[in-house]
Amino acid sequence: MKIACIGAGYVGGPTMAMVALKCPEIEVVVVDINEERIKAWNSDKLPIYEPGLLEVVKECRGRNLFFSTDTKKHVGEADIIFVSVNTPTKTHGIGAGKAADLTYWEGAARLIASVSTSSKIVVEKSTVPVKTAEAIGKVLKRNCQDPNVNFEILSNPEFLAEGTAMEDLRCPDRVLIGGSETESGQKAVETLASVYAHWIPKERILTANLWSAELAKLTANAFLAQRISSINAISALCEATGADVQQVAHAIGTDSRIGNKFLNASVGFGGSCFQKDILNLCYVCESVGLKEVAEYWFQVVSMNDYQKQRFVERVIGAMFNTVSQKKIAIYGFAFKKDTGDTRETPAIDVCKGLIRDGARCCIFDPEVTAEQIFRDLSAPKFEWDRPNYSRSQTHMLENVQVVSDAVAAADGAHAICVLTEWDQFKTLDFKSMYEKMTKPAFIFDGRNILDHAKLREIGFIVYALGKPLDPFLVKGY
Ligand code: NAI
Repeated sequence: MKIACIGAGYVGGPTMAMVALKCPEIEVVVVDINEERIKAWNSDKLPIYEPGLLEVVKECRGRNLFFSTDTKKHVGEADIIFVSVNTPTKTHGIGAGKAADLTYWEGAARLIASVSTSSKIVVEKSTVPVKTAEAIGKVLKRNCQDPNVNFEILSNPEFLAEGTAMEDLRCPDRVLIGGSETESGQKAVETLASVYAHWIPKERILTANLWSAELAKLTANAFLAQRISSINAISALCEATGADVQQVAHAIGTDSRIGNKFLNASVGFGGSCFQKDILNLCYVCESVGLKEVAEYWFQVVSMNDYQKQRFVERVIGAMFNTVSQKKIAIYGFAFKKDTGDTRETPAIDVCKGLIRDGARCCIFDPEVTAEQIFRDLSAPKFEWDRPNYSRSQTHMLENVQVVSDAVAAADGAHAICVLTEWDQFKTLDFKSMYEKMTKPAFIFDGRNILDHAKLREIGFIVYALGKPLDPFLVKGY
């Protein structure tokens, strides 16, 4: 059996590496139009940072795992084709700011149709709007020259989380495969299930109809993001009342109906998926006339925007309502720890908010390059997933400096904002950093990872998200 995967990104790369590792008799080729990305996959500096990924790639690469730009050859030869291309939010036209842009997906489908001389199983790995399989089926059928070629489309959404992708792939809570309820559809489901059965217990391989599988992915992301927005909403109330959001989260998390995972209040959720998929869910709801349902889910995104704005206002308010020309050290730019991914990271909105008020941001992140940070801060909303930005906001960059050391970032700064929960921030020598900062020295912990009592002892004015406010902050606000 030969497998090809179109799209060598955060999903295609790790997913196919795991398939190759667990199925040594299957040849797996990951193809992409991005030459630089493929070159990096064939080197020891992979294009994405994910703990444990390099080891797996090194074990399989050249054996039964290959990365190539020769899309036509490998897609033409494959029995199963995973499509794992980007599905960003539309930036213009009908549905702009909400609907999924399926240009890349359709491009992949047209490619498959044009090179197929034998029947194929086409697997939707990308997150797509419900009913995409129907549209893709039409594109495939109408563009393939050979009438004897049959395409069976499956929905196999990916539930991995960046930062823990390899563990999630090795031991997933479940794998979901949706197929059409025809005989050939069910046969295709069984074929794909047999690949996963190499390492995943049968009871964790769930099957469903196509539309349920497509919708399940959007729903899963909506529910996960909703939990974060829910606890973030409560964090605002905690600050207003003297309650402590971590105590509240612990108390509710012990209820088995609620559960204790994913209840950390923060400066906001980020990542390429949550916002995009909820907006897409809203768009789908609106399209079928479910205005109230769309409005309900849209609040999850609004609350996330509010949380980022609230953080910026807290920083500016605490610092005597002006950050003009003040140096602010930004700790962490990735949307979460253990990844270098900055797509929709809250750090973008927080930095832009501070810079708009005249602050000078000095940014440190252990995995994000200066080039990426400059790109992100000069790109308008929703443009990050496209190679050439049509418009850019270069004025944002005048007050941005990127450094390769957390201690240097704080040198002479008025404040430190912790925006990503990197473990290394917990063990910094804050006492000696305090000496070199402008007084009063502030720390705004947007992730609640630092030892706040110790920081206060050193002399810092500390803002901990969702926790009782320092008297200094209450008066100054
Ligand atoms: P990505 O942007 O990292 O990777 C997509 C790749 O597809 C890019 O390298 C691009 O060059 C390539 N591509 C686009 N059109 C192509 C074509 N016609 N032929 C060949 N290559 C093409 O995106 P990522 O993060 O891997 O996401 C892919 C999909 O998976 C999205 O729909 C996303 O919503 C979904 N997803 C992402 C997760 C994540 O944690 N990043 C988790 C679960 C699902």
